[in-house]
Amino acid sequence: MLSRKIADRLAVYPTPFYLYDIDLLRETLRRAVGESSRYGYKIHYALKANFDPRILREALQAGLGVDCVSGNEVRYAIEAGCPASGVVYAGVGKSDKEIMYSLEQGIFAFNCESRHELEIINELAAGLGKVARVALRINPDVDPMTHRYISTGQADSKFGISYKEIEEVAARLPELKNIEIVGLHFHIGSQIRELRVFEYLCLRVNTLWQWFTDHGFRLKHVNLGGGLGINYDQPESELVPDFATYFSIFNEYLKIDSSVEVHFELGRSLVGQCGELISRVLYNKVTAGGKNVAIVDASMTELIRPALYQAHHAIENLTPGAGETLYTIAGTVCESSDIFARDVRMPELRRGDLVSIKSAGAYGSAMASRYNLHDLPEAVYSDSL
Ligand code: LLP
Repeated sequence: MLSRKIADRLAVYPTPFYLYDIDLLRETLRRAVGESSRYGYKIHYALKANFDPRILREALQAGLGVDCVSGNEVRYAIEAGCPASGVVYAGVGKSDKEIMYSLEQGIFAFNCESRHELEIINELAAGLGKVARVALRINPDVDPMTHRYISTGQADSKFGISYKEIEEVAARLPELKNIEIVGLHFHIGSQIRELRVFEYLCLRVNTLWQWFTDHGFRLKHVNLGGGLGINYDQPESELVPDFATYFSIFNEYLKIDSSVEVHFELGRSLVGQCGELISRVLYNKVTAGGKNVAIVDASMTELIRPALYQAHHAIENLTPGAGETLYTIAGTVCESSDIFARDVRMPELRRGDLVSIKSAGAYGSAMASRYNLHDLPEAVYSDSL
């Protein structure tokens, strides 16, 4: 990965910081756009994965729209130059203020998550004398075979309109005069590595789409969300995710009219591998049980994924010493879950060594916090080193 090639140039930057490989980001975006456009599909960048302004700029330059999950994200995307017509907005808890702002901007679609929300959007749109474009986010009850904290499309999840409620919702729609139903939306989870999950999703979408068509709806687009996973175990063997297979699955299994636009909302697969968290070894210690613990100067405040989801991120010593040791690599925060890796065999870690925590471009800096009054992490871009 990039950090290994330029390790000597990284020593001048105060740690911890995020290092972004802009060439890799561009190549990833180029491949995603290339593979999706073979079938005429459109991609919205899921801004929640990483709102770093430089990364967003690259995504916009690659021609992507933006998938937002808050009013602030909608504003941020538009202020960064994304046309409102490229913005989709999902989220189970949109506030009145966020809805009004998005209505005023005229975004492409609200991905609406409940019957109650439909009524509120209708009411607010009426107040503004507007008609809101809405895609119904349906919870299709498909198991994404991923960590339960990032599963969103199963029967009892808080996301989307239950498939059981569809008839009731459809019956209410004619009264909601300030809503135009323009599409259906699905997003079943994140870090999906079992690609057959997307085949199952298509089969559910086909059935639901048919139901809407049979009931007189003339929908213009279907949005299949995001979720394509990345290789955290061996990032270098798969720096760019397999977009070709991913999009070809939808091309093969999705059976809806060819005039219908097909949209996606990719986050992790676009930006995950281009980011590394660079940290420095502070201290070594040995526990009573004989475990070697290396304390680094990053923590769950820069990258919470290991603490929150027991996520694995490959770690490399960029200035390796001799000999290999089994290490627990721990962060600085006063939480026992603040561990980046347990029992990993790696070259000796000495005070001052730089380590790279890989595949940290998605849901890394975006989820950073100021817990323990830590500073938020800075970013370093490969083309401005
Ligand atoms: N669309 C919607 C409606 C979403 O909720 C998400 C992610 C995406 C698209 C993008 O999904 P992606 O392509 O990135 O899988 N913090 C967690 C991931 C949370 C995902 C939230 N929703 C993590 O670090 O694994």
